[in-house]
Amino acid sequence: MSQIKAPVEPFRIKTVERIKMTSRRERENILQEAGYNVFNIPAEKVFIDLLTDSGTSAMSDNQWSGLMIGDESYAGAKNFFRLEATVKNIFCFKHVIPTHQGRAAERILFETLVRKGDYVPNNIHFDTTRANVEVRGAKAVDLVIDEGYDPDSEHPFKGNMDVDRLKKFIEKKGAKKIPLVMMTITNNSGGGQPVSVKNIKEVSQICKQHKIPLFFDACRFAENAYFVKKREKGYEKKSVLEIAQEIFSYGQGATMSAKKDALVNIGGFVTVDDDQLAEKLKNLLILSEGFPTYGGLAGRDLEAIARGLEEVLEEDYLEYRISQVAYLGKLLDKAGIPIFKPVGGHAVYLLADRFLPHIPRHQYPGWALTVALYREAGIRAVEIGGVMFAQKDRKTGKEVFPKLELVRLAIPRRVYTNAHLEYVAEAIIELYKNREKIKGLRIVRESPHLRHFTVKMEEV
Ligand code: F0G
Repeated sequence: MSQIKAPVEPFRIKTVERIKMTSRRERENILQEAGYNVFNIPAEKVFIDLLTDSGTSAMSDNQWSGLMIGDESYAGAKNFFRLEATVKNIFCFKHVIPTHQGRAAERILFETLVRKGDYVPNNIHFDTTRANVEVRGAKAVDLVIDEGYDPDSEHPFKGNMDVDRLKKFIEKKGAKKIPLVMMTITNNSGGGQPVSVKNIKEVSQICKQHKIPLFFDACRFAENAYFVKKREKGYEKKSVLEIAQEIFSYGQGATMSAKKDALVNIGGFVTVDDDQLAEKLKNLLILSEGFPTYGGLAGRDLEAIARGLEEVLEEDYLEYRISQVAYLGKLLDKAGIPIFKPVGGHAVYLLADRFLPHIPRHQYPGWALTVALYREAGIRAVEIGGVMFAQKDRKTGKEVFPKLELVRLAIPRRVYTNAHLEYVAEAIIELYKNREKIKGLRIVRESPHLRHFTVKMEEV
């Protein structure tokens, strides 16, 4: 293990939160009670929680002190203007509209722009984005390049949109049926892979030709910009802020879940150029989120987001962040554990079908791996595979499984030390040695939508 260099954290720790290890017996009982679904496990009973990087960041002393100057006025709180100025500096759009989290931004945007029968292309939609498009009676279409689905391809920008397919798609369906094109940076559902500036520029030109606005799903924009600096020719000397500004200059707006790259526990926003669109968004916002200068957040939250957006662009932070996730990937790869490559910005993804070749897809190898990880080591991860994404054939009722059967180990920002990640790697390597003991599962009870949140299972 020692040959692989661990990155040095560019911070020291001022406050700690205790985490406790449970006994294997205790975890066995917890799993039974949870119906073998890690979403049902109380967080206190988890030792290392890699369920998500969303809303799980550690705030800095600078952010915590910002909470004390929260202006809780109903309208026009000073923290709103601070946030507005910060977002405008990075995203360069005219209007900034806060929301309580990313999906609220998506909802008001799609409610305003998307009609029944429309199509929304994206590299790959995140689940909530897809759901917010499809609830409008429109179709969410994924047009990522083929390499995006190939776990062994070392393409540096596997989040890129397939430009030819986009062109053909627009020609086939007609621009009138496409109210916007989206690009998710980084591409969460495709392994946290970045998109190149070149690709964004090309997509933007196509959109311009057809007068279709281009929007970004920008949750992890700073991680994407950092990959550009490291991997794309001509960007080595630019600051991450300059790269982000250039990326956004090719679009007309963005939705943001501040729970990722704004380093806070709650919040989001939508930012757009068009005056009329902004007015419509604000009208919808007032209905369900709140007045346009707070959008469902407290004044102190707005301050924390503004400060987080500045901190996330500090390049020593990004260097550490991306290296820490890569460090876990390297430890696993070196031990021969099958992972999705190259390692993405916020998570390492295990290839569960290769990890557990003795478990057939209909016994959910990814899910089985999340159960085994918790049982053996108190680690919580999330399945992104057959339980989450299988489609049922309308005629036969048989499940059609997605291409990839993954388990995501999402790394919260500034939360776990390298020693924690070494513990995770050791546990997974141990599990891999004894992999044939891991059992598949069958579904006992499920709900018709987003079944992974509530499904009950038993071991086969
Ligand atoms: N877009 C992307 C790419 C996301 O990853 C998420 C959330 C959202 C939108 C929605 O934002 O949660 O603030 O409403 N991703 C989390 C995850 C939940 O675990 O990957 P939200």
